Parts: sequence; C-alpha cells; structure tokens
Amino acid sequence: MTAESTPDPQAFDVVDLIRTKRDGGRLADDEIAWLIDAYTDGRIAEEQMSALAMAVLLRGMERAEISRWTRAMIESGERMDFSSLTTADGTRRRTADKHSTGGVGDKITLPLAPLVAAFGVPVPQLSGRGLGHTGGTLDKLEAIPGWRASLSSEEMLRQLDEVGAVICAAGAGLAPADKKLYALRDVTGTVEAVPLIASSIMSKKIAEGTDALVLDVKVGAGAFMKTRADADELARTMVALGTDAGVATTALLTSMESPLGLTAGNGVEVEESVEVLAGGGPSDVVELTVALAREMLTAAGLPEADPAEALRDGRAMDVWRRMIAAQGGDPDAALPQAAHQHTVAAPATGTLTRMDAMSVGLAAWRLGAGRARKEDAVQAGAGVRMHAKPGDQVTEGQPLFTLLTDEEQRIGRAEEALTGAVDVEESAQAAPQELILGRITADDL
Ligand code: URA
Repeated sequence: MTAESTPDPQAFDVVDLIRTKRDGGRLADDEIAWLIDAYTDGRIAEEQMSALAMAVLLRGMERAEISRWTRAMIESGERMDFSSLTTADGTRRRTADKHSTGGVGDKITLPLAPLVAAFGVPVPQLSGRGLGHTGGTLDKLEAIPGWRASLSSEEMLRQLDEVGAVICAAGAGLAPADKKLYALRDVTGTVEAVPLIASSIMSKKIAEGTDALVLDVKVGAGAFMKTRADADELARTMVALGTDAGVATTALLTSMESPLGLTAGNGVEVEESVEVLAGGGPSDVVELTVALAREMLTAAGLPEADPAEALRDGRAMDVWRRMIAAQGGDPDAALPQAAHQHTVAAPATGTLTRMDAMSVGLAAWRLGAGRARKEDAVQAGAGVRMHAKPGDQVTEGQPLFTLLTDEEQRIGRAEEALTGAVDVEESAQAAPQELILGRITADDL
C-alpha cells in the first residue's frame, strides 16, 4: 500500500461522510481511501456503510470519486501479475478478458475463452458462481466430470502459458472490500447503484491484472439494467474506470429480452457451448461469441484475426479440450442427465413474438440449476431446453420448453414461472430481434 492509501485510523468521522453524501456533496480522495480501509478492517459498522451505500444510490458519484473508490477497493487486497507471460522472443503477451453483467442462457465465456486463446492471446477468466436467476460460469463447467474450479496462482499462470485459456474461481484475496460491500448491498436494496456496480466489477477486473477487457453489458427483461439509458450509463462508467486504470476497455450493449441460445442451466449450457466450438450451435450464441472475440482480439493488438474461421476449423475446440483437461476435466465424458423431464407445450399457433428471459431464468433456478444461498449445491443436469426462439413459427401443442430436474417436485413451481412467459401472435410478422445494440469505447467518453 502507498502512504496515501494508509490513512490515519482516526482521520475522519464516518457520520460526517454519510452526511456529505446524503446532502449531495462530493467525497474527497483521502476520505474515500480512509472509508474503504476502515470498512474492510471492521472499524466502520455495517449500518453506517449501509447508510452511505443508500446515499450513493440516491445521490450518485462523480467520475473522480468512482475512480478513487475503485482504486481503494483494489488496494484492499492483492493484485495479480501476468507480466511473466512472454513469447519465445521475449515479447510480453497481452492478456484479454471479458465480463458480462449477467443474463439467462449466457454461456458465452465457455466458447469465447478458448476461441481468443486460439490466436495466442492469453485469457485469464476469473469467474463466479450463480446467485438468483442468472447462472454462474463455474457451476456450468462443474457439470463436466472431474473439472476443478480452484487453481493456485502458479497453476493458473502455467496453464495460461501452456494452454492459453483459464476459467477458474477468483481467490479470496482479490478486492476483499468488494466481497464485504457486495454482501451488504445485497441485503440493503443498494445493488442497483451504477457507481457501486461499476466499481465492484471493475475493482475485481483491474486487480486481476488483464491488459484488455471487453464488457458485455446486458439490457432488458432478464438483465440488471432494464433500460438502454441505464445500461449506457453503466457501460460508460466502466469503460472510463478501465481506461483510467490503463486497461484497454470497450463495451458492447447486448439484448437480454429473451434468453441466449436454446438452453439455460448447467450441463445443458456446456453441451450447447461445445456445439458452438464444433462450428454449429444457435446463431445468437455464435454471433455474440464472435463479436466479443473480435473486440478482445482487437484490444489485444490483433484486429485482423478472424474468430469465425477458428470456430469452423476446430482451432478453438482444440484449446477447449486442453483447457478442460488441464483442470482435471474429461472433455469426452458424458454430461450428467436430469432424472426427470417435463414438456411445456406452445399455447397457440402463430409467430412466437416474445420469450421472457427472466421467466426462463427463474424456471431453471427453481428446477435446481441455481442456488438461493451461497452455500447451496446446484444440480448439474437441471435446466430448461427451449425448442423455439422469438421470430419462429410454432404450432399449438408442440413442445416449447423441456424442463429438466433431479427432483420431480420442483416441476410445478418451474412451470408456474413460465406462465405468461411467451406471446404467440397469429398474424404477426417475424420481427427482427437485434442482439448487439451498441458499442462504447474510450473515444465515446
Ligand atoms: N456483479 C458484481 O460483481 N458486482 C455488482 O455490483 C453487480 C454485479
């Protein structure tokens, strides 16, 4: 820690800082450094931080405040360092990473990490587990027999050097202030504050030490950000934070009105990701994987690379197989199958004009694919298979969803979650559904 970031423990009175923010004022750099340090150490009570988080939610923060807040959260823990990754001639290899703000059926990290690594760009992807209706990347990969999420820093570096891609759990030492603050926000109605979301995500990504970062900011019914304006603000704030910290950061705004692909769950999403790596898979998953790969490769200095070709010719699949095997997984093993399945039929004949992402996410969660509490286990085989996408023609009675679970008693509540989740219109034209809604770079700030 620098002298500036180790403030005098008695320097400020937290109640004064809460009042400043409550009244719409600006917190000074040394106040923010003191506050985050004191909160991480337990010198500021949870109820005081909770009042401050609510004041931030209601009053907002200026760019400089968010930047200092993020730096303080980074300084609360350790930073990773990938500078030892070099090519044969000693040139440093630029790493690239992606973060999604979370959505239903969002399995993109699985094909994306090996795809980008297939071009020689190392991808250190520290991921999380699911909470609530959006799934967690680690939960999905743990459906693969033998696969291990926890790696030591040495194992991670070795795999990055030898295979090129790692998807693993973030260690407890990365931004501990964020872990504490995120848990508090979760129970105090203060998750939705843009400055707090942006600093939470970016503190972890900057501490991770990546050179380039692409953000997939979801917009719509199944996303944190329900409106384009909110998503735009979050994306700009995060791109500014990354840029200020020297990370080449861009953001894509992408639709989360309906689920991505045709599966939501754990093993079923791995299966769909492998289809994409084999050159097939649903077109929206392929489109987003390729678009994000292009952004990552461009930010890492390879604007001419053609990721679509590397999906078609098997290069990305080769890296996937080595990445899974390096973490103890068997890429050829059969994925666990749910003990029970139940079909939900299309309610009418016509064009499917809407499929609500939140309802499908909730159904998958109720079937056992997600958890209500951090310590809950998830079912590897649970989830939802979709048999049509918005824009498709459907016939009354045809299978629309297949519900998968190991516990039959979960089916009723999952079916309830899907009540009213789709619209079928007799005379509607297949409305084009835009997936990529916008792009924000440092030049747009
Ligand atoms: N994800 C995070 O890591 N932090 C937030 O605040 C919201 C989503």
